[in-house]
Amino acid sequence: MRALRIFLATMLTALFFARAISAAEENSGRVAGYVPRLSDLMVVIQIRHAKLFYAVRRGNWPLANYELEQLVSSLKEAERYYPKTTPPMIGADRIATSLGEAVQGKDVAEFDRAFDEMNAGCNRCHEAADRSFIVIRRPSFPSTFSNQLYGRHPSERQKQPH
Ligand code: HEC
Repeated sequence: MRALRIFLATMLTALFFARAISAAEENSGRVAGYVPRLSDLMVVIQIRHAKLFYAVRRGNWPLANYELEQLVSSLKEAERYYPKTTPPMIGADRIATSLGEAVQGKDVAEFDRAFDEMNAGCNRCHEAADRSFIVIRRPSFPSTFSNQLYGRHPSERQKQPH
């Protein structure tokens, strides 16, 4: 009787582990096949874009460095998964260089210049991709999503009679 109980317990444990392993294998297969949508990657880019700016404003250079690395790797991922974006997602390296130098040198003025240059790059691509309604700018503290303009496009507003 006791032997049978031990046998059953051993079998159940073996079964449990076998199932756990196959579930893990299944999940890793799914993860490898997952390609984020471009707009999902862009929302991640938007969050890191704001975090980078706030970290610099608060003088937290290690955090700024981290967020910059994350931002650039998300841009590179977008480049890898969506090579046919118009214009193609190029310039991630150049953005990384000028922003990276500013962060390494703890140079806020140089950071601001490079950050604005990056924003112009974001917006150029949105315009070319027929998404001129997605306008990126410097965030205002402390609202996370204030790095996007939610009112009408500035060029449209200028056309309106006052
Ligand atoms: C090479 C082209 C390109 C560049 C560079 C680019 N984007 Fe985009 N972005 C797109 C496209 C295309 C879409 C629309 C995706 C869609 O509709 O599926 C988009 C969408 C977005 C959206 C809207 C996502 C949503 O679902 O609300 C945000 C926010 C955004 N981009 C932020 C940024 C920021 C910030 C940068 C710069 C750091 C940037 N993008 C650089 C091509 C680009």
